Amino acid sequence: MMLTNFKEILNNALNGKYAVGHFNTSNLEETQGIIDGARELRSPVIVGTSESAIDYAGIENIVDIVKNMAEKADIPVVLHLDHGKNFEIVKRAFDAGYTSLMFDGSKLPFEENIKITKKVVDLARGRDVSVEAELGIMLENIQDKNNLENCLTNPNQAVEFVRSTGVDALAVAIGTAHGLPQAQEIIDFERIKEIGEKVNIPLVLHGSSNSTIGDFRKAIRMGIAKINIDTELRQAFTEGVREELRDEDLYNIREFLAEGRSEVKERVKKLIKVFGSENKAK
Ligand code: G3H
Ligand code: ZN
Repeated sequence: MMLTNFKEILNNALNGKYAVGHFNTSNLEETQGIIDGARELRSPVIVGTSESAIDYAGIENIVDIVKNMAEKADIPVVLHLDHGKNFEIVKRAFDAGYTSLMFDGSKLPFEENIKITKKVVDLARGRDVSVEAELGIMLENIQDKNNLENCLTNPNQAVEFVRSTGVDALAVAIGTAHGLPQAQEIIDFERIKEIGEKVNIPLVLHGSSNSTIGDFRKAIRMGIAKINIDTELRQAFTEGVREELRDEDLYNIREFLAEGRSEVKERVKKLIKVFGSENKAK
């Protein structure tokens, strides 16, 4: 299939009470693991790259690899820019052929975040590309942890933000953190529910790695339709490679990278089953 945007996939997920996995990639093997895992379970999948992954792998290389794999796969595959921090990187991804864009203006003043997000939405509409934006402060960026309430996404602001920008999905700050698990990570489910009911578009959970099955399921019931995973796949890949490299005589790079790839694939399959998107590929 051709690369696609996430609009239909996420609206189906929201209505069907499941979530589609957004899995970050940095290289060929991680991408193969992600797409092969999704293919085996007949699940739609969103392949995400951060700006640093783009710097590492090269934007054209990423587009070519993901596009080639998508065309040979019989499941919907989305190529999504993760946490684009300014309009320039978003435009670069759009020009390179990404089918989905995230502008992350969460650290900007509210009005400024609206202004640039709106500009991204206008750009994306020219080619039916989907747009995700972010509102609120992720846990790792909150200086005063006793002041959580004022940092997490405000439901009324979310309504104004979605109405003013026309985004297709909204990333919400509800108490999770990017990277390794933090003691203070506690998901504010009631907040997800309130925002979801008010904005009525798919919500995105960031910093999702290493959450429990129960947390994932509850978040989905409350309105989360896209779940972002990066750290967990890095860990899986590295564990696979490390295990192989215990053999100090090994110098065939394909052998240890293949093990990393296979660990990624197994982790993706496990997560897809938890998210409930198995057999949802149309
Ligand atoms: O945008 C990517 C995800 O939010 C990554 O979260 O570090 O918990 O995997 P993670
Ligand atoms: Zn994120």
